[in-house]
Amino acid sequence: MTHAYPQDVPAETDQPQTDRSAQANDAGKPKESKRKSYLGRVLAQPMSHVGAPWLIRPERDDEENASESFKMLELKTGMVVCDLGCGNGYWTLPMARAVGEEGLVYAVDIQQEMLQKLGQRAARFKIENIRPTLGQIDDPKLPQNEIDLLLMVDVYHEFSHPQSMLWEIRRSLKPNGTVALLEYREEDPNVPIKPLHKMSKIQIMKEYEANGFKLVKEYNELPWQHLMFFARDDSPLKAITPIPANEVLQSLDK
Ligand SMILES: C[S@@+](CC[C@H](N)C(=O)[O-])C[C@H]1O[C@@H](n2cnc3c(N)ncnc32)[C@H](O)[C@@H]1O
Repeated sequence: MTHAYPQDVPAETDQPQTDRSAQANDAGKPKESKRKSYLGRVLAQPMSHVGAPWLIRPERDDEENASESFKMLELKTGMVVCDLGCGNGYWTLPMARAVGEEGLVYAVDIQQEMLQKLGQRAARFKIENIRPTLGQIDDPKLPQNEIDLLLMVDVYHEFSHPQSMLWEIRRSLKPNGTVALLEYREEDPNVPIKPLHKMSKIQIMKEYEANGFKLVKEYNELPWQHLMFFARDDSPLKAITPIPANEVLQSLDK
């Protein structure tokens, strides 16, 4: 089986962590050093910008049914959204079109080269409601309490500082805001992705619940990925129980 993931060239991400002394309002943020593992999961290396063409390969929609995931985001005109770990913008551009000129997309990545490639693609399609944002490995540099929907596709498992990132993400959400998380299914051996770049539902639940999130929606019909929506644990949105992965695989006839 091929493991389709251009991961052999890890990104150079030896960036400084956020200078805490320069920030007045980050009380409560976990003091976290660069990790090799988190709650029993071994962390992956960020994908280098050298592999960016793979992210916009023509067959991606057929393989992952990205169009269906996109519909599930239920984006509306005027929303303020974020594509965190945006890469060269496979998701950012359609998000920008969906929220329209009254809306805004924060496009965050830790590699300037990815943001440059995104900028070139946005210019080609004359899209102007994208705010490219150079994040840090422990801080996406987002405004507080402003985001309606924050999307992370195939990126969360790469965070070297997952607790710090989740703390900042939680703080960026409006009370009704949600995180849409797409990760390749670890439970399915037929998903042709390297094991470190997959996550199980149980592990996702463990990490998100430990960091102040609750599951509020899920979509279990994608060919390769989990799509799970989380809200702040103090959100008015109602918590749901995830359908176990073995039941999902059975219903997909895998
Ligand atoms: C596998 S790519 C996915 C890109 C995009 N989401 C997509 O689906 O096409 C992961 C991206 O996440 C970025 N990334 C990794 N850690 C990050 C962090 N802490 N903050 C922001 N971006 C990060 C990497 O630089 C890389 O561009």
